[in-house]
Amino acid sequence: MDKKIAYLPGDGIGPEVSEQAKKVMVAIAEKYGHKFEFDEALVGAVAIDATGDPYPVATHKICEESDAILFGAIGHPKYDNDPSAAVRPEEGLLRMRKSLGLYCNIRPVKAFKILEDKAPLKNDRLDGADLIVFRELTSGLYFGNPRGRTEDGKTAFETCTYTEEEILRMAKPAFEAAKNRRNKVTLVDKANVLVTSRLWREVVTKFHKENYPEVELDFLFVDNAAMQMVLNPRQFDVILTENLFGDIISDLSSVIAGSLGLLASASVGGKVGLYEPIHGSYPQATGKNIANPSAAILSAAMLLETSFGLTKEAEDIRTAINDALDSGKVTIDINPDNYIGTTEFGDTIVAYIKNN
Ligand code: IPM
Ligand code: MN
Repeated sequence: MDKKIAYLPGDGIGPEVSEQAKKVMVAIAEKYGHKFEFDEALVGAVAIDATGDPYPVATHKICEESDAILFGAIGHPKYDNDPSAAVRPEEGLLRMRKSLGLYCNIRPVKAFKILEDKAPLKNDRLDGADLIVFRELTSGLYFGNPRGRTEDGKTAFETCTYTEEEILRMAKPAFEAAKNRRNKVTLVDKANVLVTSRLWREVVTKFHKENYPEVELDFLFVDNAAMQMVLNPRQFDVILTENLFGDIISDLSSVIAGSLGLLASASVGGKVGLYEPIHGSYPQATGKNIANPSAAILSAAMLLETSFGLTKEAEDIRTAINDALDSGKVTIDINPDNYIGTTEFGDTIVAYIKNN
């Protein structure tokens, strides 16, 4: 298979972890006889520094012309503490998602058996936890208009908008995924307060009845869902939710895996899929060779499987990650007493792939 991959390492630890993911993809290409060509492009704070724009036209072009996008991380502290900044790195990611039509964000979360002792939650709650968040990614509060400040600057506002079509196109992949898993979808919303949430309930209920009656559908208010995620994460199979709730719930669900450094994601719906760790740019760790590249490497596995249909190759990568965890070859976030660096972890995975 001959494929072009847009390579967007971005900010902070993005370049360090993406480098490992790239290395792993090259090893996979060698082993299975594929050809992956990587086209690097700027996004985020590094793109602002170089061009003034967090998502330059040149980057958009490279993305559009690729077969898939491998993305690192975005964000820089110099913008976080400056509410008056005219452009922000995050804007680059949001524009990229919107302009590429990537409305469906998929975030799988599993308890890693070997890590249960290290996870912040008690073992008996984690055992067997395995869920997947379907987060709507290009609408809601993140994108609704009008938004802004009043002239006197003393009031700020945004708008949450959802259309029936935007909800339906999310419902379909969520139910389809549930059918191939444990047959349950939980719609997370705030229908006791928000009209947009009531539209979600109405549309999803009807869609469910007409198309997937064999799948169980239940509903949780987002505040309760947050509590349930910690009390009993095993009750979840597929979580379907809107943009902002999905952002929050997916970070929260990372406590199940044991580290944010282990969670990958796919954003699909357009012509080209985008694959990225769910963690951010982690500025404190930048350049120290301590970041966990597992999420980036697992994102590469999702890319191979989802965009290219290379299931065996993806499985090979997942097995290598599990083997590394099993044998205690881990980064500092997993075991502060005995750890290896970011690059060494990448090398370990490459070695497992070669020898498997
Ligand atoms: C995520 C991130 C982004 C989001 C930020 C960086 C804009 O937190 O992908 O979850 O809020 O969607
Ligand atoms: Mn987030």
